[in-house]
Amino acid sequence: MTGSQAASVVFAGSANHALAAGVAQELGVPLGACTIDRFPDGEVAIRIDVSVRGRDVFVVQPTSPPVNDHLVELLAFADACRRADARRITALVPYFGYARADKRQGVRAPVTARAVADMMQAVGIGRVVTVDAHTPQIEGFFHIPIDDLSAALPLCAALGAQLTDDAVIVSPDLGAARRAADYGARLGRPAAVCVKRRTGAASVEVTQVIGEVRGRRCIIVDDMITTGATVAECARALRAQGALEGLTVAATHGVFSPGALARMRAAGVGEVVVTDSIAASPERMPLVTRVSIAPLLAAVVRHLAESDCSPVIS
Ligand code: R5P
Repeated sequence: MTGSQAASVVFAGSANHALAAGVAQELGVPLGACTIDRFPDGEVAIRIDVSVRGRDVFVVQPTSPPVNDHLVELLAFADACRRADARRITALVPYFGYARADKRQGVRAPVTARAVADMMQAVGIGRVVTVDAHTPQIEGFFHIPIDDLSAALPLCAALGAQLTDDAVIVSPDLGAARRAADYGARLGRPAAVCVKRRTGAASVEVTQVIGEVRGRRCIIVDDMITTGATVAECARALRAQGALEGLTVAATHGVFSPGALARMRAAGVGEVVVTDSIAASPERMPLVTRVSIAPLLAAVVRHLAESDCSPVIS
């Protein structure tokens, strides 16, 4: 460990302890000692059990479900570090909850992603590291540096092992077409696009498939799977266009609300590859393979610690 890294400390929030432990292991450091609990009324109780005075603090805390609990925990954690004289606080938030609330959905609606950005900055967070944040424009809600990493490298490495000559990379909607083209270029495969229309919080309609999928093995690439409705409807549309059975899905964030996997399986999905940005649920998920982004996050921590470039707390 270098001198600048020794002046750093990595903490795990409660959202994804295994990922934080993986980052610490990659860096060859122990996780910072802290106690995270709940008061009887559900409020977050945090205690940092090691000195952070003058140190660079990295907190690993995806704001995954329960989103509000994990968000408040991150805010409380940063506030505790700021009050304990930390030099800088970097929040590693591989899954950024509320990223989809990046614009007003009708009159008298909030832009919650902006409110989250304001809260993070108010408690002294000086840099945020995300992975495939739903929309790049949320960077504009912050006046601190944001690093939005791509999970393409670990996901493509996982897909590469099973890639066949007849594979085609499919975007589930027009908005993500660039991501599918990028994966296609990395994997040396053509890309296709589904045209999707959201009809409700857990329902979508696919009206068109652009590109050649007949007789091909489709690999759907998306940033997140929540209800599984997007993937399921795309899978149905692709099969209706003659795609081969047993589709594969690669997504950065496996949110998996109840029923998501069953919904995708019923639509003919054979395998789902996700990263570990969100902690694995204790229930068995036979369809799901996880690849770790711990090396990716550790590389960023190492770089930031050595380059000494993030804003310090004023
Ligand atoms: C939509 O724009 C996103 O990229 C995902 O396709 C969507 O959020 C997935 O949600 P669900 O699994 O609920 O369809």
